[in-house]
Amino acid sequence: MKIDQVAEMVKNKLQFETTGHDYLHALRVRKNALFIMEKTSANTEVVEVACLIHDLIDHKLDLKYTYSLPTLHKKLVGIGYDSEFIEEVLDIIQNISFSKNGKPRTIEGEIVQDADRLDALGAIGIARTFAFGGKNNKLIYGDPNKRDSVNHFYEKLLHLEHMMNTNSAKLIAKERTEYMRDFLDKFYEEI
Ligand code: ADP
Ligand code: NI
Repeated sequence: MKIDQVAEMVKNKLQFETTGHDYLHALRVRKNALFIMEKTSANTEVVEVACLIHDLIDHKLDLKYTYSLPTLHKKLVGIGYDSEFIEEVLDIIQNISFSKNGKPRTIEGEIVQDADRLDALGAIGIARTFAFGGKNNKLIYGDPNKRDSVNHFYEKLLHLEHMMNTNSAKLIAKERTEYMRDFLDKFYEEI
């Protein structure tokens, strides 16, 4: 199946990425999207492929973990997708990032964006935040310039539940955000 070849390509590229944008993140995003699509109908293959490849063009990642857009395009042609399909998935992954405050143009894009944002929340979200922070020379907490990982919760993570596009994602986000608030309470208590 073509989708398995896409997964293999992502695995080869991102398996050992250490800021939380690794292959298993891509697989979780795909799984989140499949869950959302139980209630929201969309083009499943477009969504699944976009989920798997969404971080391959992310500028936050070390160059060795990314492809240029034309290279990624060629790889997808090589796997056997047609141009219309490829344009659609590449458009989605260029428009979902929260750093760029992207607004997806299609329901498929909205689902991929929600699926990716869900993986920034909950226990997994907490783990990814400190992994990203450590790798990017951030303090756990207490940076007078507020560039620490705990600050990232207030800058971004705790707002995500209100930014979800689909109802399914909103529900999961609410529960995962409560868990993160509990984590922060405990964190300060221990300090
Ligand atoms: P996207 O790819 O949707 O723009 P990001 O790559 O910005 O998302 O974020 C992915 C994850 O990386 C976040 O959920 C968070 O865990 C971590 N992260 C991103 N920026 C920071 C930061 N400044 N401090 C700590 N963690 C961060
Ligand atoms: Ni991602």
